[in-house]
Amino acid sequence: MKFDFSGKRVAVIGAGKMGGILLKVLLEKGLLSRQLTRATVQHEDRAKTLSDKLGITVGTDNLAVVKDADIVLLCVKPQVVKEVLEWIRPNISSTQLFISVAASVPTEQIENALSMNAPVVRAMPNTPCLLGVGMTGICKGKFATSEHVDAACALFNVVGKTVVVDEKHMDAVTGLSASGPAYIYIILESLAEAGVKVGLPRDIATLLAAQTTLGAATVVLETGDHPALLKDAVTTPAGCTVDGIMELEEGKLRVTLIKAVVKATQRAKELAYG
Ligand SMILES: NC(=O)c1ccc[n+]([C@@H]2O[C@H](COP(=O)([O-])OP(=O)(O)OC[C@H]3O[C@@H](n4cnc5c(N)ncnc54)[C@H](OP(=O)(O)O)[C@@H]3O)[C@@H](O)[C@H]2O)c1
Repeated sequence: MKFDFSGKRVAVIGAGKMGGILLKVLLEKGLLSRQLTRATVQHEDRAKTLSDKLGITVGTDNLAVVKDADIVLLCVKPQVVKEVLEWIRPNISSTQLFISVAASVPTEQIENALSMNAPVVRAMPNTPCLLGVGMTGICKGKFATSEHVDAACALFNVVGKTVVVDEKHMDAVTGLSASGPAYIYIILESLAEAGVKVGLPRDIATLLAAQTTLGAATVVLETGDHPALLKDAVTTPAGCTVDGIMELEEGKLRVTLIKAVVKATQRAKELAYG
């Protein structure tokens, strides 16, 4: 369902890396209006810089910014979510929609800190949202309706793809797609380094690695084919790809990636608690 954001007042609390990315793209794409969007950070000097950069009011007063907001987008670190929510409590009501991108913090904890039956939606985006190719997992709290989920999806669809999941899967989304860009950058960096090792200029090696990653991902998304089948199509009998794959298997690439996601998922369960 299409959700209409026109006339909606939005308050973004914690316009750091993720909050800043979301603000920049949502304002540039016109989903949010510069007149009706306000944000906060912790430091005055950053507020001024960000205000000049984004062309919106940015301050440090969370209590003021949430007053009259229709949607409150919470983008602070997990460890400070509770204190921020308790601080803004005097100026909020259950007619507002709270969307939190904080890893690890359950909707129930947010509802409790707000101390009212407020609609809460949790979202877990990733940094490629900056270029509109992000991936965001979304789940709803106890008091959020399907309309609230639609609103969150509409917002994050502007910066990439969205998927609605049960809340029990949010830490896994964090360990896979929110942390995932870091894993892929390491793979890309390594492929480019390998290109240099076999004689390619670095810029060409990086282009080959990045476009190959993009191409392979696009094929998976557009065909829906199993990655193993697609891999088989590249691997000709007694060809060179199978020799490369043998090295990957010996280096335990698969199990290493699996363990990376498992570890990050486990850590996501703890973040809010320090
Ligand atoms: N980075 C990612 O890839 C990613 C992906 C998905 C979800 N997230 C989630 O996004 C949230 C923010 O992460 P981040 O990487 O964007 O961190 P970050 O860059 O450190 O941003 C945090 C922001 O919160 C501000 N802040 C701190 N205390 C505040 C307070 N009391 N009131 C208002 N603003 C306050 C900071 O202000 P100053 O700038 O003045 O210090 C900063 O702008 C986290 O909960 C994280 O789990 C991040």
